[in-house]
Amino acid sequence: MAEVLVTGGAGFIGSHLVDALLADGRTVVVLDDFSTGHAENLPDHPGLRVVRGDVRDAALLAELAEAHAFEEVHHLAAIASVARSIEDPVATLSVNTEGSVRLATWAARSLPGLKRFVFASSAATYGSEVRVPTRESDPGRPDAPYGLEKATVERYLELLARTEGLPAVCARFFNVYGPRQDPSSPYSGVLSIVTRALHDGRPFTVHGDGGQTRDFVYVADVVAALTTLARQPDAVGGTFNVGTGREASLLEVVDLLESVAGRELERTHGPPRAGDIRRSVADVTALRGLGWRPERSLRDGLTALWAATC
Ligand code: NAD
Ligand code: UD1
Repeated sequence: MAEVLVTGGAGFIGSHLVDALLADGRTVVVLDDFSTGHAENLPDHPGLRVVRGDVRDAALLAELAEAHAFEEVHHLAAIASVARSIEDPVATLSVNTEGSVRLATWAARSLPGLKRFVFASSAATYGSEVRVPTRESDPGRPDAPYGLEKATVERYLELLARTEGLPAVCARFFNVYGPRQDPSSPYSGVLSIVTRALHDGRPFTVHGDGGQTRDFVYVADVVAALTTLARQPDAVGGTFNVGTGREASLLEVVDLLESVAGRELERTHGPPRAGDIRRSVADVTALRGLGWRPERSLRDGLTALWAATC
C-alpha cells in the first residue's frame, strides 16, 4: 500500500501533519532523530511507524526505500532556528542543507512511485530587504545562515526536478504557532515562550522595542496547506508562501494573548536580536489559487493555544 514519509514528524508541525494524514486513513512513516521532537507528540496508531534516525544516514534511507512504497514525502526535519544558525552555522548547514540534499536525491533515485516531495522552506529565505507583503517571485537575500540554507535547498530541488524528475514543491512557512511548539529553549518560537511565561507567571524578554512584525499562521492552517500542496497537480514545481497575509507586531500579539488569557505578562526589553527581520508578511495569492484559505483568526488561534497550555 502506498505510504507517506514525514521527516521531522515528531516535531511541532510534523506531528500535527501526521495526525491529519492518519485521520485521512493514510499509512505514515516518521523519520526523526528526536533532537527537538518528542515521542509524546505522536499517537499510538496501527497506521504509524516511527523510525528514530538521522535524515543524513544513507544506510537507513536505503532500508526505508526497500521496506516501503512511498508516494509522498514531507520533509520537515531541520534545526528550525534562525538564532541557532547564527551561533553554529556549520551544524545547521549540515542538517538543513546537506540533510535535505541527501534526502531529496535519495527520493529522486530510490522511490519509483513518488508523486510529491514537499519541502518545509521558510520566509527567512527573503531577508529584510524585500517589499511586504512578499510574493514568491520577489528576490530574497537572507539575513541569517538559516534562510540561506533553506534557499539553497530550494535551488537543489529545482535542479533535481529538472534533471531527475523529482516532483518537488517548496512551502515557505511564515511564523507558525500552536499547541506542541516546544518552549524549552531560548531558540524556541516566540509564541511558545510567551505562552509558557504567561502560564508560569514568569517575565518575558522582548528583543528590541517589540515593533517587529510577523505573519503568525496557526499550525492547522499550515497542515491544510501541506496536504493541499501534496494533492493538487498544479502545485508540482512551485514555491508557495504559507502565511495569512496579516501583519502583527510582537507587542500587538502579546497584548492579544493577555486579553485571551485574562492575565498580565511581566515584560522586560533587551537588545534587538542579531539577524532579526523587522517586518515579515506573506502574499498568499498563489496558495489561495489552489483552493486553500487560512481559517483561523489570530484571536482564535491564540485561544486554542492558550486552552492547550492550561
Ligand atoms: P521542530 O524542531 O519542532 O521540528 C523539527 C523536527 O526535526 C524535530 O522533531 C527534530 O527532532 C527533527 N530533526 C532535526 N534534525 C534532524 C535530523 N538530522 N534527522 C532527523 N530528524 C531531525 O520544528 P518545527 O517548528 O516543527 O519546524 C518544522 C519545519 O518547518 C522545519 O523544517 C522548519 O525549518 C520549518 N519552518 C518552521 C517554522 C516555524 O515557524 N515553526 C517556520 C518556517 C519553517
Ligand atoms: C521563525 C521560525 C523559523 C522560520 C521563520 C519564518 C522558530 C523558532 N523560528 O523565525 O524557523 O523560518 O520564523 O518567518 O519558530 N523574540 C523575543 N523574545 C523571545 C523570543 C523571540 O522578543 O524570547 C522575538 C525575536 O527577536 C523575533 C520574534 O520574536 O523578533 C520572532 O522570533 P522567533 O519566534 O524566534 O521567530 P523568527 O526568528 O521570526
